Amino acid sequence: MVSLQLDGVAAGYGRAPVLSDISTPPLQGGQLVALLGPNAAGKSTLFRRIFGLLRGPGTVRIDGARTDRPIAYMPQDNGARPVLSVYESILLARMQGGRLTVQPQDHAEVERVLALLDIGHLRGRHVGDLSGGQRQMIGAAQALVQNPQILLMDEPTSALDLSRQIGLLGLLRRLARDQGLLIIVALHDIGHALRFTDACMVIRDGALAACGPTATVVTPALLKQVFKVEARIEPCSKGHPQLILD
Ligand SMILES: Nc1ncnc2c1ncn2[C@@H]1O[C@H](COP(=O)(O)OP(=O)(O)OP(=O)(O)O)[C@@H](O)[C@H]1O
Ligand SMILES: [Mg+2]
Repeated sequence: MVSLQLDGVAAGYGRAPVLSDISTPPLQGGQLVALLGPNAAGKSTLFRRIFGLLRGPGTVRIDGARTDRPIAYMPQDNGARPVLSVYESILLARMQGGRLTVQPQDHAEVERVLALLDIGHLRGRHVGDLSGGQRQMIGAAQALVQNPQILLMDEPTSALDLSRQIGLLGLLRRLARDQGLLIIVALHDIGHALRFTDACMVIRDGALAACGPTATVVTPALLKQVFKVEARIEPCSKGHPQLILD
């Protein structure tokens, strides 16, 4: 099973440090992990550092990878070229890494993720003509089509309606469990983190404030300390933990 461990990881832009000394235990495949933290805390910066778009001190250690490109990254802002069709933009994402010849397997993978995300009806549309939520689903497809073992998704549900938010998070949790993937999602919805994620990392002012099982880490004390809100976490009538704002 794949695992990811950070040891003393730091990053910044130019001379301005953003992240300092982030160390985690090994995060094992088979889990959906939430990356939580206020705006500007450094969540997107951490994803860029793990994916290798930013350099810095410390080590990002990956064990148990089957390929030399085990990570895929879905950025917060979709960079898909607006003139491409949905099908082409997903196929292009599949071809990352410099391969030039499209194989039948690549088309099969595009079809697989179109069906998985229920976006097959968009295949012929130009990416630039899509709604914000539709574009976000294309971003998820571009990441999934790479068949990664570690998937970093930066706020993948921020533009989705409620049913698609829970649909995507439920799908990601299933993929993680069934296929042994490690999927890390940056989220602002603490309720979704409580409901869907196995573990969470909390970033505050560029440092790791907490890391562990979501149910243990996300407490009223943490929400007060990190997000400055008074809140309770109580089970609903079906026993699921719910966030209640006071
Ligand atoms: N390209 C950049 N150049 C310079 N500074 C940047 C750049 N990108 C981000 N920053 C700064 O780094 C800090 C962390 O930003 P980051 O995007 O990682 O936050 P975040 O936790 O993802 O926030 P959000 O929840 O708003 O997406 C912020 O102060 C931001 O202004
Ligand atoms: Mg961000």
